Amino acid sequence: MAKTAQSGSNPAGPSDEEQNAIEAAILERIEAGEIFEDLDDLSPKFRAILKMTADLAAVSEVSVLTWAYTAYRTAPDIGAKIAVCATILDEVGHAYHQGLLAERFGVDMHQRAFEDDIETIWTWPIMEVPLRNYIEFVVMQALLDRAGLHWTKDIELHCSFAPYRRTLRKVNFEEGFHMRHGAFWTEFYWNHSEETREWVQKAVDWLFPFGVMWFGKPDDLRNRPDMLKYRVRGWGNDFMRDKWLQSASAFCDKLGIKIPAKFDQEKNKWVLDMPYPMLYDAENYQWSWEQCTQKEYWSHSRKGGPMRPGAYQRLRREEWGEALW
Ligand SMILES: [Fe+2]
Ligand SMILES: [Fe+2]
Repeated sequence: MAKTAQSGSNPAGPSDEEQNAIEAAILERIEAGEIFEDLDDLSPKFRAILKMTADLAAVSEVSVLTWAYTAYRTAPDIGAKIAVCATILDEVGHAYHQGLLAERFGVDMHQRAFEDDIETIWTWPIMEVPLRNYIEFVVMQALLDRAGLHWTKDIELHCSFAPYRRTLRKVNFEEGFHMRHGAFWTEFYWNHSEETREWVQKAVDWLFPFGVMWFGKPDDLRNRPDMLKYRVRGWGNDFMRDKWLQSASAFCDKLGIKIPAKFDQEKNKWVLDMPYPMLYDAENYQWSWEQCTQKEYWSHSRKGGPMRPGAYQRLRREEWGEALW
């Protein structure tokens, strides 16, 4: 059998020095702009980062469907019910396609979805807080699919592993559709009646700060700088958060929805006008409006929301679709 650069000639495996040389060589190729097609060409660390990224993405897509499902009850007509179901189907597809990719890296998706300890599931905390009604669902699409789209679009545009880019093409087309669907109906409900306008505002008050927190820790506190170094992603957290803030604020401002951001004439852009970060109360759908530390926020968010573990248990018993029709 031919020796590969990774296995080396040492029966105990490559030495630290050899490993460092392998990583340095691949980083040089990544920095030169190379895009990799073949799994066997990746270095061990590069492979590990891609594996972790695809694995986290696949599992968190699953939690979008259990969340979207909570809006079904209050969807006002058959068109709205179909919109919730179509979103759920799309999200199953996103989990499936990213799961297929994760399996190429050795992740056992069946085990991840059905057998792993529910406590180890990582997702955005908002996805474990039930949607209160259909208006909140469309506002969520307008604000948070917009946030999710920044995340996955970055990988489609910049990832140094070509199959990941291709995996996200269809995903991003659908996320863009979710966002536009949400924007269209947010505008509709904003103009429909006093009562629906009040609900749009209420939903924005609750969801907007989750959009701000969507992009993780500020760059100087990030614990995964290797994703950028190996160019699995191209945009840093702060850059994406700001991009989202400009886009979400302009959308809300155009309609006249109040947001915790203001337009800074000097900087010529939207800036946050809220304590950042602050804690939320998932039982009462409220933010504290008092500044806390990043550490406090992230340890609070790791506790998960009121839908944990029930939503995942139902999913595992494959009961989640029973009440759909
Ligand atoms: Fe998705
Ligand atoms: Fe989506």
